[in-house]
Amino acid sequence: MSGLHIGVHFALVWICLGTIVEGAPVVPDADPAEATDFYQLFNNPDAHLSLATAPTTLDYITEHGYPAERHYVTTEDGYIISLFRIPYSHNLQNEDQQRPIAFIQHGLFGSSDSWPCLGPDDALPFLLSDAGYDVWMGNARGNRYSRNHTSLSTKHPNFWRFSWHEIGYFDIAASIDYTLSTENGKGQTGIHYVGHSQGTTVLFALLSSRPEYNAKIKTAHMLAPVAFMDHMDDFLVNTLSPYLGLNNAYSRLFCSQEFLPYNDFVLALLYNICRTGSVVSDFCSSSNDNTTQEGRTNKTASYMIIGVMPAGVSTDQILHYMQEHQSGHFREFDYGTKRNLKYYGTETPADYPTEKITCEMHMWYSDNDEMAAVEDVIRLSVTIPNAIMHHMEDPLWDHGDFAMNWEVRYYINEPIIAIMNKHEAENPQ
Ligand SMILES: *[C@@H]1O[C@H](CO)[C@@H](O)[C@H](O)[C@H]1NC(C)=O
Ligand SMILES: *[C@@H]1O[C@H](CO)[C@@H](O)[C@H](O)[C@H]1NC(C)=O
Ligand SMILES: *[C@@H]1O[C@H](CO)[C@@H](O)[C@H](O)[C@H]1NC(C)=O
Repeated sequence: MSGLHIGVHFALVWICLGTIVEGAPVVPDADPAEATDFYQLFNNPDAHLSLATAPTTLDYITEHGYPAERHYVTTEDGYIISLFRIPYSHNLQNEDQQRPIAFIQHGLFGSSDSWPCLGPDDALPFLLSDAGYDVWMGNARGNRYSRNHTSLSTKHPNFWRFSWHEIGYFDIAASIDYTLSTENGKGQTGIHYVGHSQGTTVLFALLSSRPEYNAKIKTAHMLAPVAFMDHMDDFLVNTLSPYLGLNNAYSRLFCSQEFLPYNDFVLALLYNICRTGSVVSDFCSSSNDNTTQEGRTNKTASYMIIGVMPAGVSTDQILHYMQEHQSGHFREFDYGTKRNLKYYGTETPADYPTEKITCEMHMWYSDNDEMAAVEDVIRLSVTIPNAIMHHMEDPLWDHGDFAMNWEVRYYINEPIIAIMNKHEAENPQ
């Protein structure tokens, strides 16, 4: 996700928070009886806001002639999430051969929709498919494709009681196991993983808290890796996290609910907010203005990606990031002393033991990334035994460029596929 998008969403956090704080009585520990399912609320076909007929990742894949599948996976804690798959390449006609598995995971506010947007010449899933891989795209719980549970309704606040810890610990673990259990996956030792932004955080959380999953990762590619956030330079986060990054009345009021789901209403809101001249339009660009200059990214694809975001997240995911920014720790969610004692048996959550991340871990990072600052990436990498660093030479390369830059194929996607191919050649199944 680019600075633009992050900025937009944090602007909305800011606006929502303003509204909440002004408009609602502060009842810190109140448990709302029923959460609002915004997704249902704004699904109004009469107003041409039908979510049922909106294109899905299947459409974004099949429009280019590639085969596409949707799979449902139930996690250990009951969430039913969707994976999308390009099982083989119609160009290679390789459906009868064993294909190595590549799994790619979106960032905060994103979904599997983000990946195919650059089209077959540049987008990672298509390039991977044409390189002979069995390509899977994950979807975190709560987003437009992962809104079901074996027992909880999305209207129940407990549905939204998760952060990126649970996305890593449960969703990514279940997704990896699922891909390996398919007919093509049987007999394969592991998968290749690519994540962007939150898609990296969730893998760091998984591999340090369930180290046995390291053995299931052949190579991992962390684009704009986010774990420590002390040096993050985002105006709104800097402004907000002193309030939301600590356990207090604001953060309790804001926690465990759905934040801005995917829908046309939110979309309209985003466009209006970011209109030139609007009061908050400055917040729509990142603090470093050069990251949004014309000509660096494919605008058509950017708008497509904006158009499919935000795809539904829990406010706890945002709070958890803000906690990191405040505390300087990479650790589990901080519920406040009393509840921490109950959940963890300690007053503060323990740090993730990142030294247990032992798989081949490639870190792709840049100097101009407002979310993943170089200092924070380096601090993490020195704790990871098999970290391999890939520093972007372009001094302007930013958080969103990892997904949308014109030259993402040349600088990111092809090098990643070359590393995967090398691993496959050296470790035949
Ligand atoms: C930009 O993205 C659009 C949408 O995927 C694609 O159709 C177009 O070919 C891209 N343009 C260039 C120059 O890569
Ligand atoms: C949710 O999952 C259940 C299976 O546990 C299924 O019967 C139901 O149709 C699903 N609901 C939606 C909206 O997909
Ligand atoms: C943006 O780039 C221009 C040159 O392209 C430079 O003069 C300016 O100082 C840069 N601004 C920031 C905020 O980095």
